Amino acid sequence: MLASGFAHRGHMVGIRNIEFGHVRHGAEFFGGALCDGQTPPGPGQHHRRTLFLGQFGYTKCERRVRQDSSDNEPLTCQNRHVATVVDMTSSLPSIGYLGGTGPAGSALAARLASVGYPGFIGSRTPERGQEVASELVAKWASRQLDLAGGDNAAAAQRDIIVLATPWDSAATTVTEHAEALRGKVVITMANALIRVGKEFQPLIPPRGSIAAHVQAAIPASHVVAAFQHLPAIELGALDHDVDSDVLICSDNNEATKTVSDMVAHIAGCRPLNAGLLSNALAIEALTAVLLQLNVRYKTRVAPRFTGIN
Ligand SMILES: NC(=O)c1ccc[n+]([C@@H]2O[C@H](COP(=O)([O-])OP(=O)(O)OC[C@H]3O[C@@H](n4cnc5c(N)ncnc54)[C@H](OP(=O)(O)O)[C@@H]3O)[C@@H](O)[C@H]2O)c1
Repeated sequence: MLASGFAHRGHMVGIRNIEFGHVRHGAEFFGGALCDGQTPPGPGQHHRRTLFLGQFGYTKCERRVRQDSSDNEPLTCQNRHVATVVDMTSSLPSIGYLGGTGPAGSALAARLASVGYPGFIGSRTPERGQEVASELVAKWASRQLDLAGGDNAAAAQRDIIVLATPWDSAATTVTEHAEALRGKVVITMANALIRVGKEFQPLIPPRGSIAAHVQAAIPASHVVAAFQHLPAIELGALDHDVDSDVLICSDNNEATKTVSDMVAHIAGCRPLNAGLLSNALAIEALTAVLLQLNVRYKTRVAPRFTGIN
């Protein structure tokens, strides 16, 4: 079981259109037809309330009821409606970033906050965590990022944890906060690499991967390997989509699904379930290849896999 309930909630706003044509019954899509004591909207009226409980949590939207005067039964005509989402209030979990002050953690925090995941930037120095969070909020002021910062201990209190320290301090960092991480999803994005001249070479840790090493350090948590291949610069450029598949692996299906949902929120990213945590070895090592391609072709590559629809 994953740690139950997400204690920290955030908000996101956005606009999109949803075609209701495929919805047969309101209950398939709606979180409930009407609240107690609430009357259905009349013909041509607009009804703002929580409309559906989808993969990404609760969403508020606006539903336009059919114009003809016989339309006073909201659930019988839904399959002819188009709803416009004008405001979305999410119940997305809050993310704590251990070592979130570096390029990778701060970029991921900004990106996920921009799609509704509140974040807390952790650091060994609380002032540094606060400073980086404030900088991100100021940099993307129009996006009203729900980000705060402080020490790693406070970050470890959040619902889901991203471990964003260098690989050689990953296990020691989670060990310090093992109790707070108990039962939680802990995402590791670390790659064990060394640079030899112009070459990047993967290091194979004793347990095969940093992810496996971290899982061994916090056996009561659910470690998920993800985000290794996304360049921090691309992640942090919120005015551009991120064009990449994201390989995800863990030994817990629910944890993999939780992280897949996060990835699916990022425009341009496709989550791919890459199996058990033992595959983190290949995922982490592949980063050396990607960095080599960056050097060779003077670019920033990210992986895309064909053949999966
Ligand atoms: N950079 C990328 O493009 C990228 C992309 C994907 C994945 N990654 C992976 O993501 C991780 C973070 O990358 P990064 O480039 O952001 O790393 P980084 O800047 O070297 O380190 C991130 C943060 O970790 C903390 N830290 C440093 N040394 C530590 C130690 N000995 N013990 C505990 N905390 C320490 C520091 O925060 P405080 O000083 O504030 O505590 C630092 O700001 C790495 O494992 C990397 O392989 C990076």
